[in-house]
Order: sequence, then structure tokens, then C-alpha cells
Amino acid sequence: MKNNQAIGFSVNPHPKNKRLSVITLSSLTITNFCKRIAAQNVQSIEYKPFLRFHVANCLNKETNNTLGDFLLNTVKDRKTGAVLLQCESLEPDTLNNMDFIDFNIMLSTAISHLIGVPNLDSMSGKFYARFSVKNEDKSDSYLRQAHRRMELHTDGTYVKEHTDWVIMQKMLEVDVEGGESLLLHVDDWQDLDKFHNHELAKEDIQWSSPPSKNVGYKTYHPVFLEEHSSGEARMSFIDQFAEPFNIDQGLYLYEMGESLESETNTFGVGLCEGSMLIINNYCWLHGRDKFIAKKNLHRELLRQRGAFIENALYEQKAV
Ligand SMILES: [Fe+2]
Repeated sequence: MKNNQAIGFSVNPHPKNKRLSVITLSSLTITNFCKRIAAQNVQSIEYKPFLRFHVANCLNKETNNTLGDFLLNTVKDRKTGAVLLQCESLEPDTLNNMDFIDFNIMLSTAISHLIGVPNLDSMSGKFYARFSVKNEDKSDSYLRQAHRRMELHTDGTYVKEHTDWVIMQKMLEVDVEGGESLLLHVDDWQDLDKFHNHELAKEDIQWSSPPSKNVGYKTYHPVFLEEHSSGEARMSFIDQFAEPFNIDQGLYLYEMGESLESETNTFGVGLCEGSMLIINNYCWLHGRDKFIAKKNLHRELLRQRGAFIENALYEQKAV
């Protein structure tokens, strides 16, 4: 039986979409978590993987072990599958005077290790990646480009590992207007049946990535992955990194991109500093709206992507 008790945190539906749960960690939970992990730091959890589970356990203990169950049940449940997690207070006192950025890294590490195991992020060479969005950018993908909308996609299309979930955390924001996270649940996509029932839905597509991602191979899988017993659609799609081999594949992907970008059920979510989105990567598409041009625009983000335990243990299994 699922235990969705909440001790040390509150849960509310997001006003724009009830599939998204808003979790707020209480100030007491945060303070006690910071006290429990005071002997650790970012370097120690980077060097010793078992400490990441210790950090996760410290947070879970502050909630009578209810947070881990709640997160896992919610992220695995296809009808919901998404959490916006935030903190009641981020004052220095609440954080037991821990550095704010370090706190963010420790918190998202605790969360990721309550729902599974993060994959190595080839872009950073660590289990998490930090990156900045600024007013000017010369990178080789849309990830850091502020003045355009980053189209709806799932993560992990071009890696072999399972990417069951994605955590997107905002750590810092200066002079920002716009740039909301965009979310669309696959079942809310009005054209889903058209593309899911298409003859190319299960045909392998080649996926690649630009040099900055440091992934030295290509992957092959269809846009619609094998369904679980329920038969519900699971997607793995990103427009930038698909490499179609013919006009049929090209048009299928093009029309899919056009449909997704005009979908009216897509909704925007603003994240405050210290908060994060935790989403089931195969039933939620995500993107980012464009920013208003501002000279000092600066946003620091952290991401983690990973697998549920049962999939992390069997890396060789195809998604
Ligand atoms: Fe992404």
C-alpha cells in the first residue's frame, strides 16, 4: 500500500496543473537537515558516493521517512509524475549558516538519492551539472541561450542509460524577467494519438549530441518507447538531436515539433531560488520560455538526471 503521509513538509496541487504537486519543506526540517549534514561538504559528497545516500537519509529522517516515499510514489505515478519542491525559508539561520549554493547542492543530492541514482553527467563529469544562463552566449546548443524559447523535449535521448527522472534546480537569479520552465504531460498533448499511432512511432531514430555534451556515441531508439503493461505512451524526444535518415522521418519529427510548440495545454512554472522541479522524464516534456533581454541577466542552474533503482542496477537493459 502506498504511504503518502507528509511529515515535516506540506503538499499542495500547483494552481496551473493538479498533476504537479508543490512540496514545501518546513523551516524546522531544513534546519535539522543542515545540522545533521554539518560534517559533510560538497567535495566530500563528490568524492564519496555513499555519502550522498547518507545525506538523503538525513533529510528523510527529518520527515519520519515520509518524504522519500512521497517523492517516489508521486514521480512513478504516471497521472502525476511531477513535483515542485521548495523551502519555507532560506534565511542563514534556517540553513544553520551553510553557504547557500552548497545547501542547494546538498538538498538536490538528498532528493535525487531518495528517488534513485543519478547518471554521470558527461557535460560536467559529475553526478550533477551546474550551468549558467546569461544575456550573451556562444555555446553549441539552446541550453544556455536566453533569448529564444527552448522547445519541449525529454532528457537523455542521446545517452544509453535510463533517464527515468530529471531534477532542475534554480540556485541563483539576477535581473531575470521571463524564462519560466515549460511543462507538458504527454497525456495532455492533444495530438498524442496522431503521433503515437503513426507508423513511424516505433521506428528507430538516430540521436546524437553536440561536442559540449561529451558523449562520444550515437543512440538508436524510437520516439515512443516500449509501453509498460498499461499501454500508455512513454516518450523520448528532442528536436535538436534527432538525426532523421529520410523525408518520412524528417517530416514526422518536424510535424511533431510543430504540434508540441503550438500545444495550448503547455504551462509555465516560475521557480524561486532554492526550488526545483522533479519530473518523470518519460511522461513529462519540459522546456523553457525566452527571457526578456537584460544586460546583467544571470541564472545559475543545477540539473541531475537518473534512474529508479531497479533500472540503475541493469544499465545494459534497453529503455
Ligand atoms: Fe532538458
